[in-house]
Amino acid sequence: MTSPQSPVKLTPRLETLFTRGRDFLGVEVPIMCGAMTWISEHGLVGLMSNLGAFGSLAAGNMPPELFEEEVKKTQALTDRPFAANLITIAPNYLAHLEILCAAKLSHIVFAGSIPRRTEVELAKNSGAKVMCFASNKSIARRMLDYGADALILEGSEAGGHIGHVSTAVLLQNILYDYGDQVPVFIAGGIATGFMIGHLGLMGAAGAQLGTRFVVAEECQAHDKFKQVFIKARSREAISTPQYSSKLPVVAVRALNNTAMDNFGTLQLDLLKKLEAGELTRQDAQFEVEKYWVGSLREGAVEGDVEVGSLMAGQSVGLIKKVQPLREILEELVHDADVAVGRAQERIAGGSAAEMS
Ligand SMILES: Cc1cc2nc3c(=O)[nH]c(=O)nc-3n(C[C@H](O)[C@H](O)[C@H](O)COP(=O)(O)O)c2cc1C
Repeated sequence: MTSPQSPVKLTPRLETLFTRGRDFLGVEVPIMCGAMTWISEHGLVGLMSNLGAFGSLAAGNMPPELFEEEVKKTQALTDRPFAANLITIAPNYLAHLEILCAAKLSHIVFAGSIPRRTEVELAKNSGAKVMCFASNKSIARRMLDYGADALILEGSEAGGHIGHVSTAVLLQNILYDYGDQVPVFIAGGIATGFMIGHLGLMGAAGAQLGTRFVVAEECQAHDKFKQVFIKARSREAISTPQYSSKLPVVAVRALNNTAMDNFGTLQLDLLKKLEAGELTRQDAQFEVEKYWVGSLREGAVEGDVEVGSLMAGQSVGLIKKVQPLREILEELVHDADVAVGRAQERIAGGSAAEMS
């Protein structure tokens, strides 16, 4: 099947700067739309790839038949590469992995937690390129030992489930050491081409954005959800606390609303039940994840922006309007080029001054 859309192109100097990311992803523009549960469905993923960038299907904990259908629908929309993002702690995870291997997907992203070596091998043996998240240097090393072909560093500024470390620190902790060995893609807090250009200069293979793509015109998220994003300030995208080490929970970054209060109440309630022996820790953690999946559906799909979760990164404060996806990508490329051009001018100016 051919792509009806003509792809967005990089400028010549960005082509050079991002050669590694383009070759690895097999795309014109190594900008990834991060997988977002309920949001990254076949339409958005297929369009992203048809426009020359890179989409990622969110597997979440979808029933396997539904996920298989989503993979097939995406393949019917585009003949360009795209990924699927697997949540290694989801009950349906292994079934999802099997589906992707059978579908011969070009790229598989392991998310949620650390995949087993055998799972990475299974993915690679199917012919897929494997991408793994790394939240510190030892995990990065381990993932590369397991055979990961590329790394994604996602800073705590990001929307959704997050790690503890900021993008700036991950860059210094991992990108500078591993960026020459494997393609490293950067996520968390990125909403502008200026930032993408500077990340390229630092050695990043490309960038992954989530929050910015939520407000793409073609994104299926509810209009009320998008409108909240347009008005929100960065400081309103807060992360959830963990009340006790007895119930470890992965932090979630979202805009502050009733969903965040309700999560606090749920956590306290689950802790009480844990302490009373009415619930195992695993069951309690399952309840937490079930809450977020349901709550995000209420917000992103049903448009209940008070009670439903509004998962968003701090980059939400940099977003001004709903735009067609092509326009967003063209703007990102244009601004990345401006940033790199300015850097080149500064360097040239510096050299000239040194010589005189
Ligand atoms: C609403 C929403 C849902 C998300 N769901 C997932 C998910 O299911 N799996 C995943 O790996 N990341 C998920 N993410 C993270 C994104 O894939 C991406 O890495 C992140 O949004 C990048 O940071 P940014 O929000 O600052 O752009 C989600 C993010 C948002 C905003």
